[in-house]
Formats: sequence, C-alpha cells, structure tokens
Amino acid sequence: AIERTFSIIKPDAVANNNIGAIYNRFETAGLKIIASKMVHLSKEQAEGFYAEHSERPFFGALVAFMTSGPIMVQTLEGENAVLAHREILGATNPAEAAEGTIRADFAKSIDENAAHGSDSVASAEREVAYFFSAEELCVRTR
Ligand code: CMP
Repeated sequence: AIERTFSIIKPDAVANNNIGAIYNRFETAGLKIIASKMVHLSKEQAEGFYAEHSERPFFGALVAFMTSGPIMVQTLEGENAVLAHREILGATNPAEAAEGTIRADFAKSIDENAAHGSDSVASAEREVAYFFSAEELCVRTR
C-alpha cells in the first residue's frame, strides 16, 4: 500500500553537506518527497518529538545533539514507505548498519546517526503532524 513516513536529516549530516546525497537515496528508492523544510529545533520541540524516550539514559544527549544545528525534516510517500525508508537507513547504530545504507555511509555513532525514520505507520502519522500542516503535504500525481 502507498504509505507516508517521516524523515529527519540530523545536524551531523546537514553540517557535513550530505543533504543532497541523502535526498538522492530517497528518490532512488522510489520515495517521493512530498514536504520538506529546514528547521533549528528548540529544546522544547526536541523534547516533545522524542517524548517516548524521556526516561532513557541517552535522552539528554539526544536533545542536546538534535538542537545543536539545523535539521531537514521531510515527509516521504511511496509503496510500503515506512519499511522501505527504514531499510535504506540501516540499523540505528551505524556500526551495525548494512553496507550501502545511509547510516553506514554517513553516520559516525549511535548518537550522531545522520538520519531518523518513523518506525511504524502510527508513529509516522504523529511525526508528520508534529512538523507539517495538512496544507504543506503536497499531492504528487506524477
Ligand atoms: P532516532 O531514530 O532518531 O531515535 C532516537 C535516537 O536516540 C536514535 O535515533 C539514536 O540516534 C539515539 N540513541 C542513542 N542511544 C540509543 C540507544 N541505546 N538506543 C536507541 N537509540 C539511541
């Protein structure tokens, strides 16, 4: 089924000038970018986005990193988009990410891991809505 998923290009990958290379991975995989913008998260925005991790030991470091510089946020659309996107991202820890995946090629640690992708259709709905209004999601008919 055609799904939508949510993507972040994190501060490390933006700083390393890897936005275009990562967008190329999305498009090559058949994922259409239907909304996109650059944002610099406030502490409150980062804490809200990652609220499910608030009790984890890495939460403070995660929020500090995600507010350390601008990020790109995207909504991606395509066949089986949630899983297709996670497959091209690779494992959360780049040390465990398969060869040729975004995290294997652009990330240096589990904390600075270049990109985020929704883990389910339900998370994708919440995450897309966290950053984009309905009017910002462009209908792609070709
Ligand atoms: P992300 O998909 O953005 O979701 C939460 C982030 O926390 C994750 O990517 C990692 O960058 C970071 N993180 C740091 N340590 C861990 C860990 N032990 N397990 C999962 N995520 C972690």
